[in-house]
Amino acid sequence: MSIRSKLPDVGVTIFAVNSRRARELGALNLGQGFPDYEIDPRLTELVTEAMRAGHNQYAPYEGEEALREQIARQVERSYGLKVDPQTQITVTLGATEGIFSAIQAIIGPGEEAIVFDPCYDTYDPAVRLAGGTCVHVPRMPPGFIYDWERVRATVTPRTRLIIFNTPNNPSCTIATPQDMEELAAIVRGREIYVLSDEVYEHMVFDGQRHQSVLTHPELRERGFAVSSFGKTLHSTGLRLGYCIAPPALTTELRKVHQFNTFSLATATQCAVARYLEEKSDTWNQIAGFFERKRDRLRAALEGTPFLVPAAQGTFFQLIDFSQVAPPGDLAFAERLLNEVLLCTIPLSPFYRSPPPLSVVRLCIAKRDETLDDAAARLRAFRP
Ligand SMILES: Cc1ncc(COP(=O)(O)O)c(C=O)c1O
Repeated sequence: MSIRSKLPDVGVTIFAVNSRRARELGALNLGQGFPDYEIDPRLTELVTEAMRAGHNQYAPYEGEEALREQIARQVERSYGLKVDPQTQITVTLGATEGIFSAIQAIIGPGEEAIVFDPCYDTYDPAVRLAGGTCVHVPRMPPGFIYDWERVRATVTPRTRLIIFNTPNNPSCTIATPQDMEELAAIVRGREIYVLSDEVYEHMVFDGQRHQSVLTHPELRERGFAVSSFGKTLHSTGLRLGYCIAPPALTTELRKVHQFNTFSLATATQCAVARYLEEKSDTWNQIAGFFERKRDRLRAALEGTPFLVPAAQGTFFQLIDFSQVAPPGDLAFAERLLNEVLLCTIPLSPFYRSPPPLSVVRLCIAKRDETLDDAAARLRAFRP
């Protein structure tokens, strides 16, 4: 019997493929985005304590109340904005599930979502599983500027959702207040919603400000803001995220969420709630932490033919190899892997129609020694 695949063109992600190859070759892996340092031991203790205290049965499907309250407090601290934990916050299985559930809640058969390439790889398959189509609007290096004229021309009566991601993975850029105004002008007066992937919201560098849909008076009325404790607590395996949206959108999101994951690990939710209560300034320290990592890597590559345009946000850094090899990021990433045992991520898989590219992405959520080692390997590369 042959199975009629719903996603016939989808294979294993570039992250999984490259991580497996890195393991096989014994290479240094700065490809997939995950920290190689320990998480705060206090968080480990709190998870153990929560289990010992008996938090081991189903949590409420919308998320533990204590955690939703802490999220609301953190949002108020960060953006001076009050959100209602009862009607506007849903705890999700990482940001991935928040994104998936929001898309299923909004997109119907024949409808369209606009995404900006290079884009995170979950958006397109999730839209297709909802019966819709993604329309990809490219942003090109080096500046990755939004072509708002082109976005306007892409909107049709079938457009239901614009998926936006700032700080952006993989371009390491952040949106400007002007971008948010352009976005607001496009959705104004139309039945178009905004799914704002803000998992790197606290990783914005050089004194710049994160542009959240939550702080924009028009966009927050039609926006889903998705975030991730995997990023903010340096633990991608925690698999806890959340989605903040107006009550009517939250109701629709929760309808999908309850039949998808139903509810998430109770003990980790209780532990994260306690952790945020104890360490309420956690989120303030993240930008400085990663900015120092970024600067360390850039300094270590000074004087090499690699160009290292300062990441504006996220826990990634792009390396421009245009002075070292011809365009072709897939081939160049392969050469780095084979010749200096350094695993990076090319940007081509993040595009529907990739242009010739001369950049690869490195994850900087690594110990200083790992970053120094990566720089040494890049220095050892012979064109
Ligand atoms: C832009 C973006 N969105 C969403 C996610 C997924 O977040 P989570 O691990 O919380 O599911 C990631 C993870 O790398 C990401 O880079």
